[in-house]
Amino acid sequence: MPKTSRILQALASLTLLASSGSALAEAPSAFLKKCAPCHGKDGTGAGAFKGKAFDFSKKTPSKPAFTKAVRAGKNPMPKFDPSKLSDADLDAIYAFVQTLKR
Ligand code: HEC
Repeated sequence: MPKTSRILQALASLTLLASSGSALAEAPSAFLKKCAPCHGKDGTGAGAFKGKAFDFSKKTPSKPAFTKAVRAGKNPMPKFDPSKLSDADLDAIYAFVQTLKR
């Protein structure tokens, strides 16, 4: 019964999606608020700086490079010091952008 197995497969991947989504619940909200306006909701840079902001679906920066860019800024990207973005949010966002690589 191929139809049933396809439905089961779809259900299984939905469950997977739901569980990985809840594990990263914090990251998308901080990301959506502070990064998505320029980097796009999907992290491809399809936002306000279309084509110019870093595309996380192509490459994941190393943690030190990521932290430096976020904390120090990278013109025209503003810097996010710890008063604007906690270390926990930074870590959560880094964990999230790692999932965007295709
Ligand atoms: C005002 C728009 C804007 C916002 C807001 C913004 N970025 Fe960026 N970001 C950019 C642009 C534009 C670049 C490309 C800069 C360049 O390469 O010269 C960039 C580059 C980066 C890079 C790559 C640095 C490298 O190694 O080349 C990282 C990492 C990054 N942004 C993370 C973030 C995160 C995380 C947030 C949210 C906390 C964020 N950005 C918010 C516009 C923005």
